[in-house]
Amino acid sequence: MPQHEQHPTTAVPRRAVVTGSAGFIGSHLAHALVQAGTTVIGVDRRDPSSDATAAANLGALRGLPGYHHVTADLLNCAIDPLLIEADAVFHLAGIPGVRPSWGAQFSDYLASNVLATHRVLEACIRIGVPRLVVASSSSVYGPTDDGASGESDRLRPASPYAVTKLAEEQLCLAYAARPSGPGVVALRYFTVYGPRQRPDMFTHRTLQAALTGQPLRLYGDGHQRRDFTYIDDVIAATIAAAAVPTAHGAINVGGGSNASLLEVINIATSLIGRDIQIQQDHARTGDVLLTRADPSRAREVLGWQPRVNLPNGLRAHMQALAAQLPNYNRAA
Ligand code: NAD
Ligand code: UGA
Repeated sequence: MPQHEQHPTTAVPRRAVVTGSAGFIGSHLAHALVQAGTTVIGVDRRDPSSDATAAANLGALRGLPGYHHVTADLLNCAIDPLLIEADAVFHLAGIPGVRPSWGAQFSDYLASNVLATHRVLEACIRIGVPRLVVASSSSVYGPTDDGASGESDRLRPASPYAVTKLAEEQLCLAYAARPSGPGVVALRYFTVYGPRQRPDMFTHRTLQAALTGQPLRLYGDGHQRRDFTYIDDVIAATIAAAAVPTAHGAINVGGGSNASLLEVINIATSLIGRDIQIQQDHARTGDVLLTRADPSRAREVLGWQPRVNLPNGLRAHMQALAAQLPNYNRAA
């Protein structure tokens, strides 16, 4: 985390399950929980012995006594044994990414985001897990006007991915209303960035273009705006969501760094000290022009607010990416 940006400490679960732990956000969450004293069972279908991204993401967790990794697909593995004595399940496993969700891949989105979530929920009920924190998405809002999106606003998902995330979130909230259902907090994450961000995402690609001199493909005119939310802030909100005494449904996790893609490119340009080559491409269907979180509920319920501003977050992200690029040479 950039210096001077510490979050207040919150109570952590004694034992927790993190699904999607070999992924970008899941690996950061598992690490933060273990550092705070939680015993973590991490589950992911990507096998770190054969998948380089999973291995890199799990690198910092390897050998930590509080972390136990299970390579398994939630669509068919035995989930119950993983949940025994868990105080909380953080369900982050899923297929992310807005643009590839059109066409043939939709069945994978449906399977991992909805059907696997259903299996997790049934297992939570059988084992009696008290709290489920699930990764929802800002994409459930769909097109918005210039105002900030509040949790009770109308939801108009504009891509197949967003439809599955809304289904996932609502399925979890429906289970929460069942007798012996877990208390559910659905966190609507807004465009998360920082070290180990997925390589398909804009921030990663912009910083990679800045570091390597390779061109950046820009979809649309670059005036699209996002609430870019730094990974450490997202982790702080996620851990806080397991600790609140009553579950409160959906909560936005975003705010504080609303910027256009062109503004991100400008910050990256000034960090690297030279221009980024841009290849203009057409705007992608389902890509909204604006996301902007109303952060009031997160502040009230989780006591959370984002701490890392975009220039500081991008600097930390760029440093991590530079260390990761095999032949990065500052003078190149
Ligand atoms: P990621 O792809 O890096 O991580 C997701 C992980 O889930 C992967 O490692 C994948 O192997 C695993 N997974 C998928 N299906 C599985 C299955 N059936 N069984 C077991 N493991 C499975 O993605 P991420 O960016 O870390 O996103 C994590 C979660 O947060 C996702 O649910 C995503 O929809 C949500 N989200 C992400 C963002 C963002 O900006 N990154 C924003 C909003 C919501
Ligand atoms: C991101 C994540 O990828 C989703 O998993 C997540 O659910 C979503 O945030 C969310 O907030 O819920 P997105 O905002 O589309 O989705 O983030 P990026 O994939 O980084 O794209 C941001 C913008 O950059 C889009 O307008 C996209 O078209 C553009 N882009 C992306 C480019 O111009 N070039 C690229 O190479 C990649």
